[in-house]
Amino acid sequence: MLNRSIYLLLIITIAKGFSPLIQLPTNELYRNISRTVVLCIDDFGAKGDGFTDDTKSLQDVWEVACSSSSRAKIVIPSGKSYLVRPTDFAGPCLSKVTLRVSGFIVAPKSPAVWEGLDVRKWLYFHGVKHLKVEGGGIINGVGKKWWERSCKTNDSNPCTHAPTALTFRRCWNLKVKNITFFNSQRMHLAFIHCKHVAASGINIIAPADSPNTDGIHISASTNVKLENIAIRTGDDCISIVSNSSRIRIKNVFCGAGHGISIGGLGKNNSYASVEDVVVNGAVLFDTENGVRIKTWQGGRGFARKITFENVWMNNVSNPIIINQYYCDSPVTCTNQTSAVKIENVSFSGIRGTSATEDAIILACSDSYPCKRLYLKNIELTASSGTAKSFCWEAYGTSSGLLYPKPCISSGDIIIRHLVKSNSTSSLPHDYALF
Ligand SMILES: *[C@@H]1O[C@H](CO)[C@@H](O)[C@H](O)[C@H]1NC(C)=O
Ligand SMILES: *[C@@H]1O[C@H](CO)[C@@H](O)[C@H](O)[C@H]1NC(C)=O
Ligand SMILES: *[C@@H]1O[C@H](CO)[C@@H](O)[C@H](O)[C@H]1NC(C)=O
Ligand SMILES: *[C@@H]1O[C@H](CO)[C@@H](O)[C@H](O)[C@H]1NC(C)=O
Ligand SMILES: *[C@@H]1O[C@H](CO)[C@@H](O)[C@H](O)[C@H]1NC(C)=O
Ligand SMILES: *[C@@H]1O[C@H](CO)[C@@H](O)[C@H](O)[C@H]1NC(C)=O
Ligand SMILES: *[C@@H]1O[C@H](CO)[C@@H](O)[C@H](O)[C@H]1NC(C)=O
Ligand SMILES: *[C@@H]1O[C@H](CO)[C@@H](O)[C@H](O)[C@H]1NC(C)=O
Ligand SMILES: *[C@@H]1O[C@H](CO)[C@@H](O)[C@H](O)[C@H]1NC(C)=O
Repeated sequence: MLNRSIYLLLIITIAKGFSPLIQLPTNELYRNISRTVVLCIDDFGAKGDGFTDDTKSLQDVWEVACSSSSRAKIVIPSGKSYLVRPTDFAGPCLSKVTLRVSGFIVAPKSPAVWEGLDVRKWLYFHGVKHLKVEGGGIINGVGKKWWERSCKTNDSNPCTHAPTALTFRRCWNLKVKNITFFNSQRMHLAFIHCKHVAASGINIIAPADSPNTDGIHISASTNVKLENIAIRTGDDCISIVSNSSRIRIKNVFCGAGHGISIGGLGKNNSYASVEDVVVNGAVLFDTENGVRIKTWQGGRGFARKITFENVWMNNVSNPIIINQYYCDSPVTCTNQTSAVKIENVSFSGIRGTSATEDAIILACSDSYPCKRLYLKNIELTASSGTAKSFCWEAYGTSSGLLYPKPCISSGDIIIRHLVKSNSTSSLPHDYALF
């Protein structure tokens, strides 16, 4: 069984996450705590009424904090709401900086505000070392207008970018804790080219039909720890892409959306390397996928040393899935001979219910079959019908209690000619659609 305490902890995290509006204390005090300069945004002219543009105040307080020779703490007081336009917060800073968000930071409603600006960014921190973001507050992307413009909402719309609510790029020694996100324009929280990141006590909430609203996105980052996270959005709960390694994920709840995903890797014949990922302790409710690795055809590189363990699935459409024929593109993807290799992937203690009969799908590349897959203690039943497993070029071993019986081949991989990938064989075309 899934460890009871993990489950309880998740429930507590979630319960706390869903009543954030009620417990905001007023009158935040600021004082000098042993060589820490405390700077309140209100002293920089911010109104915090939710209507006045407080961008300048936040920029100014950031400048002062970042150039302070002693530690600095920026306070965004509780009980107030600060409207902030797209803003860059640049490092390096002279000392460690803490951003204590206890109130609300809200985005402008209208995408027109981004005219002439980079539409991929709203709150954008880059090149900052030793930054801490905390405080129990709420970051609200007010994404509705962006969702309406998405080509996923209406395919007569052009496919364009939309802002990630909070991005950290090239940040080292970063801590993000005790923050809630609502309704991001696109992704909620992204770590790009970051090192040594710890995020915990994060709640992320957006409607199940909001497009591309990934919860947490990790790209080209190393040594990232996520713990006690609750995410309900319209896209991936957590996604890990490009060159990322040493990722540890513990106690995650994902409700609605697309589940925990590694990839898509290798889009546009690109190189990707994802290595050393452990997801231990997750609960997924009503998600489209459970734990997934997806790669585009034609890519290069690898995804290896990946472990998913102690995962509880409830009504998940594809609880375990590897798809090397991923194609999230309006034009159909053609079969190609190169692929991102998948090796050393272990699924252990994966239990619960599948919303479809396809409980296990391991659809691997013809030219680079999946190697050293390991399945242990899998118990997945279909909500209706019989749970099944599908394998294509999937090699590895299994042990323990296994239901449905996995179809992976244990034999040595037969060396295949690349010619094979031109053949039209029995892999259903549908797999290219996930
Ligand atoms: C913090 O202390 C320094 C000197 O110790 C002082 O100059 C500064 O005004 C104080 N800041 C606040 C916000 O009280
Ligand atoms: C989150 O922040 C709020 C407000 O500062 C605080 O009361 C609460 O204890 C914090 N929670 C955790 C788990 O740190
Ligand atoms: C999609 O967009 C087109 C053109 O803007 C519009 O005519 C149509 O009503 C929209 N469809 C939906 C379902 O919103
Ligand atoms: C990943 O690493 C490869 C090889 O070092 C590099 O060519 C590529 O640009 C990197 N991709 C990203 C997104 O950092
Ligand atoms: C590959 O990249 C090119 C140029 O950036 C772009 O036009 C094309 O649509 C991309 N193809 C896919 C499948 O993303
Ligand atoms: C299972 O999930 C699907 C969405 O994937 C949803 O439509 C359905 O209502 C869910 N069933 C139950 C019993 O919750
Ligand atoms: C895969 O795991 C096996 C056994 O744990 C190990 O010997 C091998 O080096 C690993 N391969 C890669 C590519 O990580
Ligand atoms: C594979 O398909 C490509 C494109 O359709 C073709 O050019 C090539 O000759 C084929 N190779 C073989 C060995 O059939
Ligand atoms: C692509 O490869 C898969 C797996 O070998 C096969 O099922 C499918 O028919 C191929 N598609 C095309 C267009 O050749």
